[in-house]
Amino acid sequence: MTRRILSGIQPTGNLHLGNYLGAIQQWVPLQQVAECIFFIVDSHAITVPQDPKQLQANIRRTAATYLACGIDPERSIIFAQSSVPAHAELAWIFNCITPLGWLQRMTQFKEKSASQKEGACLGLLAYPVLQAADILLYHPQAVPVGEDQKQHLELTRDIALLFNRLVGHDYFALPEPLITAQGARIMSLRDGTKKMSKSDSSEASRIELTDTADAIAHKVRRAKSDADLIHAEHIENRPELANLLAILALLTGQTLDQTIEPYIGKGFSALKEALIEALVSIIIPIGEKTEALQQDAAYLDAILIKGQKAANVIAHATLMDVKERMGLWVKP
Ligand code: TYM
Repeated sequence: MTRRILSGIQPTGNLHLGNYLGAIQQWVPLQQVAECIFFIVDSHAITVPQDPKQLQANIRRTAATYLACGIDPERSIIFAQSSVPAHAELAWIFNCITPLGWLQRMTQFKEKSASQKEGACLGLLAYPVLQAADILLYHPQAVPVGEDQKQHLELTRDIALLFNRLVGHDYFALPEPLITAQGARIMSLRDGTKKMSKSDSSEASRIELTDTADAIAHKVRRAKSDADLIHAEHIENRPELANLLAILALLTGQTLDQTIEPYIGKGFSALKEALIEALVSIIIPIGEKTEALQQDAAYLDAILIKGQKAANVIAHATLMDVKERMGLWVKP
C-alpha cells in the first residue's frame, strides 16, 4: 500500500495542461489514500536564468494553482523547496557519490544545456541529484509524474542503491514512479510529436491553466490536424488525433473507445468543439480560483509556512540519519 507520495512542479511561467493531466490530476485523488507532499520546485527553477521578482511571484502563483486544482492544504503538505535547507544539504552529499557520467547522459541536461547560449551552469548538470534528494528525504513509496520525469526517477533509485551499498544496509527504500497511461505525455497542439511544454516559443502549442475561454477555443480550433476522416484504426500513426483524443478522454473520464465513437467517419471539427467544451468546463474554474487565491498573499504564505514546518521535521530527521551514516559531524 502507498503510504506517502510526493511530487513537485517548477514555478516557471503558468502551469499548462500537460502539468495538469500528467501530474496534478493524479495528485488530487491520491490525497484520499496517502499522506501527500506537494512542493514548489524553486531551487530547480534557477538552474536556468530567472528574473527574481517574477520567480517570487510565480512561487505563490503555483501554490494558488495547486489549491485551485483541488490540493487540500488541510490534508497535504505544500511548501517551497528552497525553504527546507535539507534539500540542498542532502543534494551535496549525493553529489559526492554520484558518478558524473550518469548525469552527462541525462536527456534533460543535454536538451537544456544546448539551449543555454552562455553555456550551462553546474546546477543544470546536478539537477537530477537535487531531485533525488527532494524525493529520498521523505521516504515516499511513489512519485506521481509525467513520463518525462521517468529518467530522473530511475536515477533517484540508482542513487538510493548507491547510498545503501555505501552504508551497508537498505536505508532508502526505492520509490516507484506513478505514470498514467494516457496523461503520461500530452503533446503540443502545433506538433503531435513534440511534448507540450512551458518552454515552447509558441503559446498556441499549449493550453495554460489561466487561459480564457476565447484563448482555449482559438488554440484548439487552430490545433494541427490531418486531412483524413476520423477512424478507430491506426491512431498510433496520427499523433495529433491521438493527442486530442487522449486529452478529451482524460478530461471526461471516458475510455479512448468511448471518446472516439461519436466522431468516427467525421472530420476534426466536431471533436475539437467537444474538446473546447470539456476544457472550458475544467480549466476556466481553475483559472478563476487561481486568480482569486492570488489576491490573498497572506493566506498563501501561511500555507507555505505551515508546509515548510511540517516538511522540515521529516527532512531534517532523514538528513541527520544520512550524515551519521556518512561519518559527518552530527550534534551528539
Ligand atoms: P516540471 O515542472 O517540468 O513538470 C511538472 C510535472 O508535469 C509533468 N509534465 C507533463 N506530463 C505530461 N505531459 C506533458 N507534456 C508534461 N509536461 C510536464 C512532469 O512530468 C512533472 O510531473 N524535475 C521536475 C520537478 C521535480 C520533481 C522533484 C518532481 C523536482 N524535484 C521531485 C517530482 C519529485 C520538473 O521539472 O517537472
